[in-house]
Amino acid sequence: MSLDRIDAYLESHARDFEEQLKDLIRIPSVSAQPDHDPDTRRAAEFLRDDLAAMGLDVEIVETKRHPIVYAERLAAPGKPTVLIYGHYDVQPPEPLEPWTSPPFEPTVRDGNLYARGATDDKGQMFTHLKAVEAWLKTAGDLPVNVKILIEGEEEIGGANLEEFVANNPEKLACDYAVISDTSQFAPGKPAITYGLKGLAYFEVHVQGANRDLHSGTYGGAVANPLNALATILDGLKGPDGRIRVEGFYDAVRPLEDWEREAFRKLPFSEDEFRDELGVREVFGEEGYSTLERKGARPTCDVHGLWGGYSGPGPKTVLPCKAGAKFSFRLVPDQEPAEVEALVRRHLEKHTPPGVTVELISHQGSPAVLVDVDSPGFRAAVKAIEASFGVAPLFIREGGSIPVVGLLKKHLKVDTLLLGWGQNDDNLHGPNEKFSLADFHRGIKASAHLLDELSRAT
Ligand code: BES
Ligand code: MN
Ligand code: MN
Repeated sequence: MSLDRIDAYLESHARDFEEQLKDLIRIPSVSAQPDHDPDTRRAAEFLRDDLAAMGLDVEIVETKRHPIVYAERLAAPGKPTVLIYGHYDVQPPEPLEPWTSPPFEPTVRDGNLYARGATDDKGQMFTHLKAVEAWLKTAGDLPVNVKILIEGEEEIGGANLEEFVANNPEKLACDYAVISDTSQFAPGKPAITYGLKGLAYFEVHVQGANRDLHSGTYGGAVANPLNALATILDGLKGPDGRIRVEGFYDAVRPLEDWEREAFRKLPFSEDEFRDELGVREVFGEEGYSTLERKGARPTCDVHGLWGGYSGPGPKTVLPCKAGAKFSFRLVPDQEPAEVEALVRRHLEKHTPPGVTVELISHQGSPAVLVDVDSPGFRAAVKAIEASFGVAPLFIREGGSIPVVGLLKKHLKVDTLLLGWGQNDDNLHGPNEKFSLADFHRGIKASAHLLDELSRAT
């Protein structure tokens, strides 16, 4: 079977694929918001129908929350089995005001498709589905055995996928796992991501007096939970960008010389990075470059905080409670549970007098690092070259995709992270976009990948 016929099919169906993707994107499958539960189900059903129409065996697997879509076609005896993962859930679109076009009305401007989920992950996931379709419609079959796993809880770090993976190691068994849910290094510079960070996410509640007080009558005599919260949050990280939680760095695997050298060689301009973001200077952990900080060093960020009064005009309240959400991005070999224990100890030691704190731990996932010297990687390099016209760079990224760790833990398989997105795609933010050119290059690379993997040893 010649790949030319596949390529021709992709070209003649390019507009079709775009319209189908838009239909999927119009379904507001926001996993975090229960009001959208019927929509997450509709997105799962849309994918089920699309996969069934291609000729795959497909089922919707119910979970305690959002359904999983699982499909397979195991008709290539003696050939490797490839597991393709994606997620159909999206982040909430709020705040709505900064969007140029409505988040769930996919709109093309300057060759980019703007909408929530365009790049994360509907557009990227769809590339693999259309690659499978091209094979089935032209060759009548696939060059490898294919399993497709699409979940609806990635963005909420749900525990239900782990249950499914842990309970179905044979069903999901594979030689290679493939995910497109990351980014290229830059426009025209495709990349294979060999490292992702892990995540340990927390919420802290600070309680002071039994009710809100007048800050003149009581101020200075009882602790203010908002002041205490500011002290706590400030204590998490020093002015040198180092995390101050005792023992936090103990498990961190140091960067090796070869890797620091590889980071230095990547075509990156810190000035452009700074200017594009509109900041006066970059900031991060002392002793490390921007790319090392972003991809390979642990970090700590506050995501939201609340308490007291922030409406119009002054209100001299001494609030009785305050709270915040914050997280640590982890690197090998940090364990989320160990980090939680360290953070608890840190808070016990560093809670200012006069308040009590409660720490809630949300999702955790470990970092992943995969071997770049493998048959799967070599196959992916060739597929990307064939489609993008240049060889991919090998990079580490700061985002987290929990399933990668689950596939390693339960199936002992490494994942090929082939990102078609761009760093400035505004994923999770207003005006999320995905380049349509990258969409089509991604489909072609995915189609070629199946061929390359069928011969990989
Ligand atoms: N696709 C992203 C992860 C990502 C983004 C990887 C950019 C590489 C570059 C994924 O959907 C995501 O948003 N993951 C969450 C973690 C999850 C547990 C909420 C994240 O990284 O914040
Ligand atoms: Mn994603
Ligand atoms: Mn995401």
